Amino acid sequence: MIKIFIVIFLLLPISIEENAFVDESFFKYMTSKTDYNLIANKKNFQDYSISECKTIGFWHLIRYSANYPNFEEISEMNEFLPKLRDTIILLNQSILNESELKFLNKWTPRVSPEMENLLTDYGSETIKSLGLRTWVRLKYLIFNTRISKQVKIRSTNFTRTIESAQKYVEGFFHFWPLKINIESSDIENDYLIKYPDLCEKYLTYINSNQNACSELLYFDFMSSKLRNSKRRFQDRLGVNSFYTNINIAFEMAFKMCQYEYLIDKTISIWCKFFDLETIKLLEYKDDLKNNCKYGYKYEISRLMTCDLVKNLLESLKTFKRSYETNDDTLNKFTAYFTHSSTLMSFLSSMGIGKSEDNFDYENILSENINREFKTSSINPTSSNIGFLLFKCDENSKKPNYLLRVFHNERLVKIDGCQSTDCNLNEFLNYLTFFTSTCKSTKESCKI
Ligand SMILES: *[C@@H]1O[C@H](CO)[C@@H](O)[C@H](O)[C@H]1NC(C)=O
Ligand SMILES: *[C@@H]1O[C@H](CO)[C@@H](O)[C@H](O)[C@H]1NC(C)=O
Ligand SMILES: *[C@@H]1O[C@H](CO)[C@@H](O)[C@H](O)[C@H]1NC(C)=O
Repeated sequence: MIKIFIVIFLLLPISIEENAFVDESFFKYMTSKTDYNLIANKKNFQDYSISECKTIGFWHLIRYSANYPNFEEISEMNEFLPKLRDTIILLNQSILNESELKFLNKWTPRVSPEMENLLTDYGSETIKSLGLRTWVRLKYLIFNTRISKQVKIRSTNFTRTIESAQKYVEGFFHFWPLKINIESSDIENDYLIKYPDLCEKYLTYINSNQNACSELLYFDFMSSKLRNSKRRFQDRLGVNSFYTNINIAFEMAFKMCQYEYLIDKTISIWCKFFDLETIKLLEYKDDLKNNCKYGYKYEISRLMTCDLVKNLLESLKTFKRSYETNDDTLNKFTAYFTHSSTLMSFLSSMGIGKSEDNFDYENILSENINREFKTSSINPTSSNIGFLLFKCDENSKKPNYLLRVFHNERLVKIDGCQSTDCNLNEFLNYLTFFTSTCKSTKESCKI
């Protein structure tokens, strides 16, 4: 009886609260605020096993999950948006129909500044289920009492990354409650997984150099398009610049639209003031920036991943040694929890999203280009890349040691591999070549 009650209780609010103010496809273009669940290939279990091979090691690099905005952002939105709401209702010239207006009238901020940067419940669930799926896929890999020696989990020393690591571990060891130590590092010296914040060469020449990403400055076509977007936004609000600062309104409403979805998949009433063209334009602008900072334009964006690439190289060798020597004290599973800047630059080092020509002068004038580098699919919340090593039967036609790489749970081909079924030796050669061009991250980053 109670069970039935709970089921009904769970179903009811969903059917009542469902409000499709905009199409859900909107949320696939939110760049680094894109919901992982809209992008990832979560149903993929088949590619994680090969009948003639067994899994012998896994290396996983993961960005933290959906989180609340920071203190200033929350305070600004909470102060600005209720006033804008009242003005919209007072002037009564907006695009909203009667029932939408009623909805806006009831709208109040749901996030308080103390929640800054914490994972949302939805974000927690997302990364916990990633952990659980990873366990289901790898359950024969770690099946042994010496488990604590075989598993290494490390996070940058931030609440949102540590929380992400904890949730992932909770999912991974769901059926097997074990205390796993999550290492966290001194962020002042974390050249392994927090290098973009420490790399002086990157910070000086790219991150804080106005001219480094000139593609963002040169093309005033972008600003004229953005101006048009803001005009359309203003028309939809039915509020002009006499009553509000349109630039701030544009920014705040857009953020609220993004965040309400990441809190619990709410399709926010604030999304209604934007059209898809605007969302795609903002995405394109962000892609230009990210491609410049973390893509192929500057060598340092790859060289600063030196220590992490070396770590991958050593881990793959360790997985192999662990199998060959039957030594169950060696590492078989490593997971690192980090930030988008680390993840995106590392993905570039692996050749993911490579688009050397996509952002050239000819193409740049059209944000509709079919570009490889799309932050929304490369780096949504909880974005991750996993390297799974297999040992195959001697008499199979497969390479002896075979590697598969998964980006957001999708099998991908990366640089250094002929195909998605990658011969480990070939890939190790590639990594060795890569690391021969750099001594260490610290060294590469010296000015
Ligand atoms: C108002 O818009 C909503 C979508 O946001 C729609 O479902 C509803 O039918 C509209 N109501 C009227 C009266 O047009
Ligand atoms: C708002 O405008 C609509 C027509 O555009 C009108 O039907 C409605 O009564 C107005 N509401 C208020 C509160 O003035
Ligand atoms: C992590 O940060 C906390 C407080 O921010 C600090 O007390 C702790 O020493 C840090 N841990 C490491 C390993 O640096």
